[in-house]
Amino acid sequence: MSLLDKHGIIERNATLLLVASLLVVSVGGIVEIAPLFYLENTIEKVDGMRPYSPLELAGRDIYIREGCYTCHSQMIRPFRDEVERYGHYSLAAESMYDHSFQWGSKRTGPDLARVGSRYSNEWHVQHLTEPRSVVPESVMPSYSFLANAPLRIENVTASLKASRMVGVPYSDEMIENAEADILAQANPDADTSGVEARYPKLVLGDFDGSPAALTEMDALISYLQMLGTLVDFSTYDEASGYR
Ligand code: HEC
Repeated sequence: MSLLDKHGIIERNATLLLVASLLVVSVGGIVEIAPLFYLENTIEKVDGMRPYSPLELAGRDIYIREGCYTCHSQMIRPFRDEVERYGHYSLAAESMYDHSFQWGSKRTGPDLARVGSRYSNEWHVQHLTEPRSVVPESVMPSYSFLANAPLRIENVTASLKASRMVGVPYSDEMIENAEADILAQANPDADTSGVEARYPKLVLGDFDGSPAALTEMDALISYLQMLGTLVDFSTYDEASGYR
């Protein structure tokens, strides 16, 4: 039997052809994917990344609940037009504590990966309350109700623990202090030395303009103000020889 005839057997038997092609494809798949799980440099290490503070984490949950990701990506591609508009291209390490990640590809609104500290808290409150009052042509919906929604903090400890189970390095100390930390970050009168030591580069203070109440607006803005601010790219680029 010639080689051509043997191949004919496979080609005439649909099940055999299916099984054989799956085998071939899976070899290719394993060779490409498996190394990513044990190679050390899959996620290049950068200085500055830390787990989200409890308030930022709560804000991130609201971001997901409200479907902000349906219009906003958090992934700056390494192209000149994107880098000039949004800032340094995104690194894998910047989303290593995201479960689930918020990269996205559809941009009805701008990318938000580096929106942190670009606007004041007041701007965000105004914009989230009525986007067209600051950007007249905006199609973004109003999220004014967030300012009247008290932030539910009873699940914060469990939320940190759940993140730790999927690999986010929350320490026992962070988990023990989760409730105190979520209150302290947005309270201008609180002793913030603990929360600041646990979460470097933390943006502190009242976010929503009403210090008396801790609202979902506080949490969401604390999350937005942190986005893209943790890694110091002036030192990163020197070390990596990027520029
Ligand atoms: C229907 C699509 C849509 C949804 C949903 C949406 N946005 Fe937007 N967003 C936009 C558009 C369009 C713009 C640009 C115009 C503007 O600034 O309002 C924008 C702008 C922004 C900006 C300013 C970005 C910049 O660099 O100027 C922020 C911050 C923002 N959105 C946050 C959010 C958050 C937080 C949510 C969820 C609570 C959200 N958006 C939901 C469409 C959307």
